[in-house]
Amino acid sequence: MTNPVSSTLEVPETRRIPRHVAVIMDGNGRWARQRFLPRVAGHRRGAEAVRNAVRACAERGVEYLTLFAFSSENWRRPPDEVSFLMQLFVVALEQEVEKLHENDVSFRVVGDLGRFEPKLVRLIREAEALTAGNRRLTLTIAANYGGRWDMLQAVHRMLRDHPELAAGFGEGDFTPYLALNYAPEPDLFIRTGGEQRISNFLLWQLAYTELYFTDTLWPDFDAAALDRAIVSYQQRERRFGRTSEQLPAGAGLAAYRIENPGDAA
Ligand code: IPE
Ligand code: IPE
Ligand code: MG
Repeated sequence: MTNPVSSTLEVPETRRIPRHVAVIMDGNGRWARQRFLPRVAGHRRGAEAVRNAVRACAERGVEYLTLFAFSSENWRRPPDEVSFLMQLFVVALEQEVEKLHENDVSFRVVGDLGRFEPKLVRLIREAEALTAGNRRLTLTIAANYGGRWDMLQAVHRMLRDHPELAAGFGEGDFTPYLALNYAPEPDLFIRTGGEQRISNFLLWQLAYTELYFTDTLWPDFDAAALDRAIVSYQQRERRFGRTSEQLPAGAGLAAYRIENPGDAA
């Protein structure tokens, strides 16, 4: 496990390629509706977009890719859609894990697995165990995940291990219990589908993440779209509370801009 830096306790290193990209994959339903297809057809295409995103991120040197696949609020959807999504998850695990492993991708799932059927949980645990030693990219799927759930479960487990901390605790006591404790905080957050909200995704970890919103619907999000997001990221000045003048000379990321977004694929 790496020892992730807290962006509020120290200034993290900034790289031209975001080390950790976190994505709210939104717009599957609208993609389908535009084509007079059932919503679930959009989810199927969305799963294909996941495959492309994993490849494109690995090729660009992204080390951690975290994808929001199912929120703790998505149980509110029609039961048919929920069971389709669960089934899609099972099928994706059965079909894709071997390929992830061959490509040196480490696979993790974060979220409350307690509500998933035992077969799905078993497939998840097997995939995690198989790929645990892989180093090229860590792919995390957030499933039945909620930022509030994550913080509460972290406090709960921390106090179970260290009851004395009820008297007071700090970041360093708490963050090792967050579900993403193995990853640095996200550098770049992407939300497709046009909405500009966090929808209870990584509430703690997004403290200093650069936010990028695009109208592109998730099934249409390809390598060129990823490059546009990375170019936008590279134009940001990550100050972490400091002034521009305090930044080391050349700290801006713009100098490293991708020359021809899309061609890199
Ligand atoms: C995101 O697409 C996928 C999940 C939440 C599982 P949506 O299904 O939310 O698509 P829209 O927002 O209805 O277009
Ligand atoms: C957020 O998308 C959750 C996932 C992408 C898994 P939603 O489409 O469910 O978000 P809201 O409900 O519109 O905010
Ligand atoms: Mg949506």
